[in-house]
Amino acid sequence: MNCLSPSILAADFSRLGEQVAFVEQAGAQYLHFDVMDGHFVPNISFGLPVLRSLREVTGLMLDVHLMIERPLRYIDEIAACGADIITVHAEACADLDRAVREIKEKGLLAGVALCPATPLGVLEYVLADVDMVLVMTVNPGFGGQSLIPYTLDKVRDLKALINRRGLKTDIEVDGGINALTLSAALEAGANVIVAGSAVFRGDIAENTKSLLAQMKAREK
Ligand code: DX5
Ligand code: ZN
Repeated sequence: MNCLSPSILAADFSRLGEQVAFVEQAGAQYLHFDVMDGHFVPNISFGLPVLRSLREVTGLMLDVHLMIERPLRYIDEIAACGADIITVHAEACADLDRAVREIKEKGLLAGVALCPATPLGVLEYVLADVDMVLVMTVNPGFGGQSLIPYTLDKVRDLKALINRRGLKTDIEVDGGINALTLSAALEAGANVIVAGSAVFRGDIAENTKSLLAQMKAREK
């Protein structure tokens, strides 16, 4: 199933609850929550207290993207805050299999994210245990960047690999997704679509509905 995961990194934080309600009412299925530590990526965003507060006001699937070093340290707490999906970066984990296992032991969905230049080979031995692969379509750290075209080749290769192995792994794309780039991402094989600026800049409900309509049209 295709799912839209609006990234609150682009939201107006002084009106966060209200803006999350807009995307929920407009039909989005997930809510993308970008945690940045100023080490793995140059930027710092927000963390657990914000996640906990959002859990109280939304029924959306909380899709937590950890752009932090050694994310294993925080999995217990993030699970306790009410996350539904936790995605760790392969580049940030010396023990990727353990991170995936710990997320799943909490009863959550486990995602593994790859930066644009990271090859699919790092997934070789863990893919069967992973619920979702997040293919970064920009270098992580900031919203509002342009999609890097070669990353969609990676999505295509990943989709072929998943099919070859008979798996059902979700493919999430994140960065530079908008009304113009969405079709190419879907065509390449992505089914979980992160969009920050394309949702939260302008009319949030309208933006959400029109991206969802585009995704639905493609599913038929
Ligand atoms: C970037 C984040 C993204 C970001 C996407 O490092 O992981 O989730 O919010 O923003 P847009 O959709 O504006 O490119
Ligand atoms: Zn993200």
